[in-house]
Amino acid sequence: MKELLQNVYKRKSVRRYNGQKLSQEELAAVEEYLHQLKPLVPIHLEFQIVPCSETNCKLNAEYCLLVYSEEGNLWLTNVGYMLEQWDLYLASLGIGVCWYGMGKVEEERQCDLVYAIMLAFGKCDADQFRNGDYDFNRKDVDDIWSGATDVRIGEIARLAPSAVNSQPWRVEQVDNKFNVYRQKGNVPLLSSQLYKRWNKVDVGIFLCFVDIALESNGYTFNRTLGTDTDKGRRVLVATYELN
Ligand SMILES: Cc1cc2nc3c(=O)[nH]c(=O)nc-3n(C[C@H](O)[C@H](O)[C@H](O)COP(=O)(O)O)c2cc1C
Repeated sequence: MKELLQNVYKRKSVRRYNGQKLSQEELAAVEEYLHQLKPLVPIHLEFQIVPCSETNCKLNAEYCLLVYSEEGNLWLTNVGYMLEQWDLYLASLGIGVCWYGMGKVEEERQCDLVYAIMLAFGKCDADQFRNGDYDFNRKDVDDIWSGATDVRIGEIARLAPSAVNSQPWRVEQVDNKFNVYRQKGNVPLLSSQLYKRWNKVDVGIFLCFVDIALESNGYTFNRTLGTDTDKGRRVLVATYELN
């Protein structure tokens, strides 16, 4: 995962595409990478790449990636964890991506799999990406990570994208052990049902950033996962123990 670090500072939600088409080679690379994503939990996913114009996505992207998953503990968190790797990889190819939680499909179920989310993608101009660790509208490390012993980790993890930029993660650290929580917030504009769903994807994206941060700073770790419950304001999603 550490090879994705440089793309953390480049990726951005791309909402303006330039109308150029992906080449066959680019499309093949994009599809191939879907088979290399590292899972958080062993849950089966399937993907469909369809023209964006055939979805309800309002962006002018060339394609949308539709993500279908088995259900199970942390399935949406797993979707966030896996597809964020893809988002970062596409940034390295100069292909724009935008997670699109507002997307809907006609068939929610496909055999044992259920629709999770879509991501729009396509060609865009270079100025649609970031050029470094500025231009981020994010909470400070101190606001999300208490007891941090190595702020380099939090400084990377805090850059994770989330639906409506809600950043619903909190971390509590004691020495070499830290807990990652999904925290409910108030987003009045969104139905709580949708928000509950995106929150889980968001925290998976955050775990992806945490892992990139740890691995690129030379840490090895053991991670224990929590649950998907909707009870309580704060839900323990993962405990990391650094070696
Ligand atoms: C799960 C999820 C769902 C999202 N849904 C939408 C969406 O429906 N429409 C949209 O324009 N952006 C959407 N976004 C993009 C976020 O608004 C964006 O990631 C956040 O504001 C941070 O900005 P950045 O991605 O440019 O760093 C979504 C992001 C995530 C992670």
